[in-house]
Amino acid sequence: MTYEQARTLIEQTLPEKRFIHTLGVVETAEHLAKTYGVNVEQARLAAMLHDYAKYMDRDEMRQVVRAEQLDLALLEFDDELLHAPVGAVLLDRAYDLDAAVVSAIKNHTTGSPGMSRLDQVIFVSDAIEPNRRYPGVEALRDVAEQSLELAVVATLRQSIQHLLNKSVRIFPLTIATYNDFVKTP
Ligand SMILES: [Fe+2]
Ligand SMILES: [Fe+2]
Repeated sequence: MTYEQARTLIEQTLPEKRFIHTLGVVETAEHLAKTYGVNVEQARLAAMLHDYAKYMDRDEMRQVVRAEQLDLALLEFDDELLHAPVGAVLLDRAYDLDAAVVSAIKNHTTGSPGMSRLDQVIFVSDAIEPNRRYPGVEALRDVAEQSLELAVVATLRQSIQHLLNKSVRIFPLTIATYNDFVKTP
């Protein structure tokens, strides 16, 4: 699948606000990929596709989790988590995509221990793209200029803190990713 094909698909699939967010993720992912020596074409494509399933019907997504034998623990957590692995598996079925691109789409919300540099670029870009506005986003953007791995840790820290403040449950994979990326001294 070419970038232009992906762009057409996503422009048709997502509402304008989410498409604008997506273009921001593409811009940031391209910049971070160039900065950290990650494949720029794969980064642009994964960024364009990352929120493909964002507006899919909740029950339909839950059905995909069962039918495709994805992690059933997903069904016990916030539905917000579903669109990443569901989008990845549906796109993988329908189009000719590199496994690296599929992985970056799959891991963009929860993260994953040992995730690839491309996965990291998409994970961080989703959190800091230019349209994002929340307390602390500027600090995350600064860290992303210094170190991709530290930006992953900072993004996880901000996301986990946000969930703690809301007193909601935290998906174990996110904690596992945090533990994996925070290096012991
Ligand atoms: Fe997303
Ligand atoms: Fe996103």
